[in-house]
Amino acid sequence: MSEEANDPRIAELHERKNRAKLGGGEERIARQHARGRMTARERLELLLDKGSFREMDIFVTHDSSEFGLAENKIPGDGVVTGYGTIDGRLVHVYSQDFTVFGGSVSNAHAMKICKVMDAAMRNGTPLIGLNDSGGARIQEGVRSLAGYAEIFYRNVIASGVIPQISVIMGPCAGGAVYSPAITDFVIMVRETSHMFVTGPDVIKTVTHEEVTFEELGGASIHSSKSGVAHFNADSEEDALLLVQQLVAHFPSNNLDDPPLLPARDDILRQDEELNTIVPDNPNKPYDMREIIRRIVDDHQFIEVHEHWAKNIIVAFSRMGGQPVGIVAQQPMVLAGVLDVDASQKAARFVRFCDAFNIPLVVLEDVPGFMPGVTQEHGGIIRHGAKLLYAFAEATVPKVTVIVRKAYGGAYCVMNPRHIGADMVLAWPSAEIAVMGPEGAVNVIFRRELAEADDPEARKAELVAEYRQRFANPYVAASAGYIDNVIEPKETRTRVMNALEMLSNKQARLPAKKHGNIPL
Ligand code: HXC
Repeated sequence: MSEEANDPRIAELHERKNRAKLGGGEERIARQHARGRMTARERLELLLDKGSFREMDIFVTHDSSEFGLAENKIPGDGVVTGYGTIDGRLVHVYSQDFTVFGGSVSNAHAMKICKVMDAAMRNGTPLIGLNDSGGARIQEGVRSLAGYAEIFYRNVIASGVIPQISVIMGPCAGGAVYSPAITDFVIMVRETSHMFVTGPDVIKTVTHEEVTFEELGGASIHSSKSGVAHFNADSEEDALLLVQQLVAHFPSNNLDDPPLLPARDDILRQDEELNTIVPDNPNKPYDMREIIRRIVDDHQFIEVHEHWAKNIIVAFSRMGGQPVGIVAQQPMVLAGVLDVDASQKAARFVRFCDAFNIPLVVLEDVPGFMPGVTQEHGGIIRHGAKLLYAFAEATVPKVTVIVRKAYGGAYCVMNPRHIGADMVLAWPSAEIAVMGPEGAVNVIFRRELAEADDPEARKAELVAEYRQRFANPYVAASAGYIDNVIEPKETRTRVMNALEMLSNKQARLPAKKHGNIPL
């Protein structure tokens, strides 16, 4: 036997570490498993490259004495923190351990999280938080709240400096929701994760509404209705896989370039199908996802907010190995109109891409802003302005392809040259005008139509005339507002050529503390 094995200090170290790794004990671990949830450490093992995790603060305990806490100290205090790699790239992580005081946040627990956040900032790495917690450690009172606020503060300061991803893998309630809410992406796990500011019991008392946990704050509601969650994973494994896929598209920090992969897919690939994908009838929908699929590398992309505001698509993908952020209307949903939710969804995505040097590719087919009292009273002016602001402010390479409609104010918002697009291409099917032919004819020929012998026939004539005059890309092209009209089949190559040309783009905003985006 080696001398080391006999050394009682080494034996004690191992014994202490093994005890710490058991968290709240085998019984609580079994309970966690029985609910279909992994332990904090099992999750990290799946997330990070094998053997790469280096734990910090495994021996930290709380220093509270209220309500019997003095006799109840568990090393690690309910959160596993440290660093490791994903696909060889360094990330900092924390993973809350529900088996220890329900993963509740003591001041010590919060300080452990703050320590990895500080390390992530100092070393310029993404921060990934795996959340599974009963919230503020009730016995600690304001000391717990102080810890939370310190985390929130760091989330804000880190925003736009390092990518921050939150995975919700259990409860996340009360003020605790505001850490994930500030991070760039929230991934929830179906059935087993919940987020809400006030739970069903409080709601029943205050508003007399009866609602279940799942209906109130489950993954599916937050990924389809509130927009709080960007992704809705079927299982914990899927959620962690998604983190890996996302990180692969992000730079480690705002000073780095996003990771370029060797291009496997043919850069010169043309796709004949694209030439006929847009229906002749301008009111007929088609699936924009099919166009995206046909122009990106390996036909693959990761849709963000897939189930919320489906009239707009935002997605990460690669073109020629270069990560890109795609913003595209979806004509299959509400004709791809811009409304409150679509504007917010796209604006936040554009700002993320801009903060992290990910070029933007816009595929435009927008009939305008959504009309209606609900939209106006819901603040479509304020929210639509967010998207306009986000595109205009973005200094990353910005390429727009006008696929079909680009009407009215929505044309001005959807990354035209006038607000800073570097390259605007249009398909021959593009229609660029103040409004659609029907609406335009109704306004400018109202009197003539009222006096016509056969108003319907005259209107059809005028619509055809208007369409020929305005509903095409050539008026805009003759003014230099679009750079070229291209054959749809060559879109992949044309966009990649533009991105290549823009790869050394230099653009700066005037010095300012920060802008005042209409929030
Ligand atoms: C201390 C807590 C705790 C908490 C749970 N536990 N939440 N301990 N502080 N906040 C402990 C339990 O005592 C129990 O300990 C263990 O964790 C597991 O809890 P259970 O209730 O047995 O589990 P479960 O049935 O799954 O219910 C989970 C739960 C429930 C829904 C999260 O525990 C719960 O409602 N907890 C309180 C949630 C809450 O109100 N938190 C404060 C929210 S306000 P043992 O020893 O039996 O295993 C907030 C403000 C944040 O967080 C402020 C930021 C600004």
